[in-house]
Amino acid sequence: MRCGAGFGDPLGVPTSTQPCSLFADLDEEMDVVNAMTAYAGRFNGKVALVTGGVSGIGASVTTRLIAEGATVIAVDVAEATITSFSAEHASAGDALDTRILDVTDAAAVDRVVADVVEKYGHLDILVANAGIGAAGAVADVTDASWRMVLSVDLDGVFHVARAALPHLIESGGSIVNTASISGMGGDTGMAAYNAAKGAVINLTRSMAVDYGHQGVRVNAVAPGPVATPLLTPVLESNEAVRNTYAERIPLGRVAQPDEIAAAILYLASDDASFVTGVILPVDGGLTSWTAQPNLFG
Ligand SMILES: NC(=O)c1ccc[n+]([C@@H]2O[C@H](COP(=O)([O-])OP(=O)(O)OC[C@H]3O[C@@H](n4cnc5c(N)ncnc54)[C@H](O)[C@@H]3O)[C@@H](O)[C@H]2O)c1
Repeated sequence: MRCGAGFGDPLGVPTSTQPCSLFADLDEEMDVVNAMTAYAGRFNGKVALVTGGVSGIGASVTTRLIAEGATVIAVDVAEATITSFSAEHASAGDALDTRILDVTDAAAVDRVVADVVEKYGHLDILVANAGIGAAGAVADVTDASWRMVLSVDLDGVFHVARAALPHLIESGGSIVNTASISGMGGDTGMAAYNAAKGAVINLTRSMAVDYGHQGVRVNAVAPGPVATPLLTPVLESNEAVRNTYAERIPLGRVAQPDEIAAAILYLASDDASFVTGVILPVDGGLTSWTAQPNLFG
């Protein structure tokens, strides 16, 4: 008899109410071991390109993909961050290949993708994650700020997707874009970011429609607030922001980068083999709320 859920069934399956040891018999133990082994090798032999891949969410994606068997080309515009990330993860050996790349430079993107395919023979996964934010309601946004945000957050996704798609069609690969809940609704004073992330969401759907018949899946995650270098300075310096998040996010906290990376890896993996064109909020429930006050409490 298997362990009952009420008594700590390791799989959480409510099969009985009998207390028992961690594994009721060897077969069950082997099922769990086999499942764990399969999970560990989810990306064996895969080659993945991750933009913004050495900081915050992208760094988590890079390390998790490597841990699950992939070779990762982590590209970023920040040379110093690349140097420190590479030094910290030297034990990854040949599974980690870091390169300086500005995703706003279409010609440079084309060169890096071509070089990656020449070196590794194929490209299976693109995680278009590099992004920046800028403050300002429309009347306050300068041309330079608008162009900067749109060129990194939107043009950057377009450039890497355009360069990678012929190779992803060959490999039957997939794209995961890092959008944002800021692409699903408006924020206070974040006009350019809202516009860019909204466009990334619909570009994701457009690519899913255009390339599904050629075997390429295209999805996006839409993170809520995440404790990364993009947001941590605000969280640390502004108690009102921290309290508002705690109150408005049903799970009561901001995310850790690993929690977004887990969703990205799911969408990139064969576990999501029939999932395309999806925008997956990973936001602790923030976008599930209408934000109405308690009318009856
Ligand atoms: N942190 C959050 O709360 C949050 C929420 C929703 C969405 N996001 C999105 O997640 C993604 C990752 O952000 P993060 O929070 O991990 O921040 P981060 O600053 O830690 O990482 C972003 C990385 O992108 C790189 N980058 C910036 N411009 C680039 C360019 N032109 N070319 C190549 N790389 C460039 C940066 O150098 C940095 O390493 C972004 O697209 C961001 O918009 C973040």
